Amino acid sequence: MNEKTNAAFGAYEIIKNSANINLGIGTGSTTNAFIENNLNQIKDHINMVFSSSEKSTALMRKYGFKVEDGTPDFKLDFYVDGADEFDQNNCLIKGGGGAHTKEKVLASSSKCFICIADSTKRVQQLGAFPLPIEVIPFAKDSVLHALGEYSENIIQRDFITDSGNIILDLHGVDLRSPKEIETKLNLIPGVVDNGIFAHHVPRYIVVGNSEGYELIES
Ligand code: A5P
Repeated sequence: MNEKTNAAFGAYEIIKNSANINLGIGTGSTTNAFIENNLNQIKDHINMVFSSSEKSTALMRKYGFKVEDGTPDFKLDFYVDGADEFDQNNCLIKGGGGAHTKEKVLASSSKCFICIADSTKRVQQLGAFPLPIEVIPFAKDSVLHALGEYSENIIQRDFITDSGNIILDLHGVDLRSPKEIETKLNLIPGVVDNGIFAHHVPRYIVVGNSEGYELIES
């Protein structure tokens, strides 16, 4: 089994003995492995499922799950999602799939965020992965100007989010203080959200390896 599959299995092991679960689901290939290999095994334990993207919703529907609209007005029991980078403080960069805004909403709406990641996602310092920023299209130029303080290399992704917004990927951002940068970037008018998860770190990071997985707890 590959590392992503092993990480997904680790999330399944955390969840499997719970009943009547209200679950949030992230986006990306590791989350897809969880949906395809593990979610079916706990189908009888699931009460409601909320999704962070149209892609994940479509995949879950394919496997016969009813996916709720919008967001819960209560705390989810678990939120399962991947990451593009994680550091030793369990801070993340997410948004490689362009879904980080909805992902952060569901992560913050859960009692237990379980991040599933292959071992390549572990870093000493966040920021080698370009930092995604979701921006309303109207504000593109003013936001680009403001973001010049953080990066000299900003690339607009050829992608529109599920909410109809653009993504700007910032290369080479100094992320030694991820909480501070997460807050400051979101103060720029027109920014919807950025891909730093420092205020909403996962309770668990399940790191897949070739043998199985390592469980890191916050
Ligand atoms: C989606 O927007 C991202 O936040 C993903 O969670 C992240 O890109 C991880 O993706 P993989 O599981 O495909 O590595």
